[in-house]
Amino acid sequence: MSQQSIIETTGLTKVYGNKIAVDKLNLHINEGEVFGFLGPNGAGKTTTILMLLGLTESTSGTAKVCGYSPTREPLKVKRVVGYLPEKVGFYEDLTARQNLEYTAALNGIPREAASRKGGELLDMVGLSEVAEQKVSTFSHGMKQRLGIADVMIKDPKVAFFDEPTAGIDPEGIDQVLNLIANMAKQKVTIVLSSHQLHQVQKICTRVGILAKGRLIVQGSINELGREAIGGGKVRIEVQVSQPTPKLIESIRNIKGVTGVESSDDLLLISCDEDLRRQIAKVVADSDSLLIQMKLEEYGLDDIYMKYFRET
Ligand SMILES: Nc1ncnc2c1ncn2[C@@H]1O[C@H](COP(=O)(O)OP(=O)(O)O)[C@@H](O)[C@H]1O
Ligand SMILES: [Mg+2]
Repeated sequence: MSQQSIIETTGLTKVYGNKIAVDKLNLHINEGEVFGFLGPNGAGKTTTILMLLGLTESTSGTAKVCGYSPTREPLKVKRVVGYLPEKVGFYEDLTARQNLEYTAALNGIPREAASRKGGELLDMVGLSEVAEQKVSTFSHGMKQRLGIADVMIKDPKVAFFDEPTAGIDPEGIDQVLNLIANMAKQKVTIVLSSHQLHQVQKICTRVGILAKGRLIVQGSINELGREAIGGGKVRIEVQVSQPTPKLIESIRNIKGVTGVESSDDLLLISCDEDLRRQIAKVVADSDSLLIQMKLEEYGLDDIYMKYFRET
C-alpha cells in the first residue's frame, strides 16, 4: 500500500464473557480519508471505536492510531483524536458556547483562542444564533452539530463519529454529513460509523463492512462493487426473446466477458468493461430479438445486501 495508514489494527479482538464482539479485525485507514465503518446493530462498531480510543481494552491483537498504541499510550492517542459518541453528552445547563469553551479548557487551549475558535465553529455548524442558549433547549440534530464543533475545537488528526446521523430528520442528516465532509477537506481523517449506509455512502472515500464482529470487506465502493458482481467490473442485463444456448455461447465468447447467467429471457453478463455494443451485435446476428439492455450500476446498498446475505 502506497498511502500512509493512520489507523492500523492486526487481529484486534474483544470478547465479553463468551461473546466475541470484535473478531480478529485487520483494519487499515489512510490519512485524510473518510472511512465509512458500516454494519448492522450489534456488529461491533462501537466496541472497535472504543478500543481504538483506548476507552476499552482489547482482549487480543494490536492497534495503532497515529502511530500510538491505544492500550499502552492512551493519553497520547486521546490528545490527537476527537470523538463524538453515539449518545452525545453535554452539560445541559450550560450554553452551547460554554460547553465548547469547557471542552477547550479541558484540552489546554488558552481562553482567548478558545473563545475565538468557539465562535467560528458555532458559526460553521449553524448555531451562532443559539450560542447563548442552554443545551437543554436543543434538538437532537442541534446537539449533533454542537458535537461536531466540540470534536473540531481540539484540532484532531483523526475524528471518530459513532452513528452521527441516527435519529435525526433528513434535513439534519444532510447538514451533519456536509459538516463532516468539510472537516475532511481540512485534512482530518474521519471514521464514520453507521448502520444506515445509504445515508453516509456519498461522503465516504472507503468503507469497511462489519458483521458479527468480523470485517467482511474493506475498500472503495468501486472495488467492492467489482467483488460483488463476481469478478467482472460491470454487469450488463440483457433481455432477449427466446435466448438459445447458441446465443449464450456466442456472448460468452466475446472478449472481455467473464460470465453469463440466464433466467428465462434475461441474461446477466459480467464483463471487464462496458461491452453493450459488442453484445448487441451478437444478439442482432442471432435468431433472438433484443428487447432491452442495461448497464447495471452497483450502489453500496447492493454491495451491503450481497455481503449481508452471505453471512
Ligand atoms: N459492555 C458490554 N458488555 C457485554 N457485551 C457488550 C458490551 N458492549 C457491547 N457488547 C456486545 O458486543 C456486540 C457488539 O456491540 P457494539 O460494538 O455496540 O455494536 P454496534 O456498535 O455495531 O452496534 C453486541 O453483541 C453487544 O451486545
Ligand atoms: Mg454502536
